[in-house]
Amino acid sequence: MNRNLALEFVRVTEMAAIASARWMGRGDEKAADQAAVDAMRSMLDTVDCKGTVVIGEGERDEAPMLFIGEEVGSGNGPALDIALDPLEGTTVCAVGASNSISVMAIAEAGGFLNAPDTYMEKIAVGPAGRGLIDIRETPKENLSRLAEAKKCKINDLTVCILDRDRHRDLIAQVREAGARIKLIGDGDVAASLATCEDNSGVDMLMGTGGAPEGVIAAAALRCMGGDFQGTLKFRHDEEKERAKKMGITDLEKIYSIEELASGNVMFVATGVTTGTFLNGVRFKPWGATTQSIVMRSQSGTIRRIEAEHRFDTKPRY
Ligand code: FBP
Repeated sequence: MNRNLALEFVRVTEMAAIASARWMGRGDEKAADQAAVDAMRSMLDTVDCKGTVVIGEGERDEAPMLFIGEEVGSGNGPALDIALDPLEGTTVCAVGASNSISVMAIAEAGGFLNAPDTYMEKIAVGPAGRGLIDIRETPKENLSRLAEAKKCKINDLTVCILDRDRHRDLIAQVREAGARIKLIGDGDVAASLATCEDNSGVDMLMGTGGAPEGVIAAAALRCMGGDFQGTLKFRHDEEKERAKKMGITDLEKIYSIEELASGNVMFVATGVTTGTFLNGVRFKPWGATTQSIVMRSQSGTIRRIEAEHRFDTKPRY
């Protein structure tokens, strides 16, 4: 994969972030998401590749744009699989809270698990915990392994968990183990990334969130040297049937990070609202500023890109 492509793709998330950031705090999740989708879709075709959306806005019958299987890109260049979420954290953006991002992960064709739109139980850690986590083990066991690797005590560790009723038991177990907890309303991709940053105050992510977000997070953690495991959690039989149609035979499989995102992968994200990992879009009299992150698994390079976008010379914004 041409390394310069990563810098092409960041233009796409920048544009989607600016478009959706206009809707920050306006209480309209759908409008914020639509703005991001429209912007991402139009910008994607300027990138030289034969892209196929493998994680997108949903299946063809439920998403007019960026549906699973949609061909994107100029049609010239390498065949790529694209996992995207134009606005990860729609509610977060609509209420003006922190950590909504526009995000894409890119792999060579066949590199991503074609995850159905269901839930995934996840565990994510930064580089210190690589090779040590096991989703089949108790939270206490996973925390104790990470504490040993980080040469600290379990009660020095912080676990990020989505604040959902389904996590009552998990939360009780983490508390029992002695770790601190950061409950978040939404946005477990950003939370997964936070496990890889020393100063984020997050050591581990646990719990069940979106399966598509799991694949995107796995791609990011491949680039950052972290670790991730996930197992699909279906809400009903219809979702199981969909998964089977998508080629998933073992519905209880535990996916390693490499099984979710294999080969050379790239990850790009732009902050929409300010979070632990990225600043959000700021509008200025002359345009807007964005902060993005661009990463490649092959080199392990992590770039943070601060951009100033001038609306008078770029009327597309
Ligand atoms: P959206 O951007 O699609 O709203 O997803 C936000 C999110 O919080 C994800 O980060 C997370 O994986 C998922 O929703 C959790 O799903 P649910 O809100 O149904 O518990």
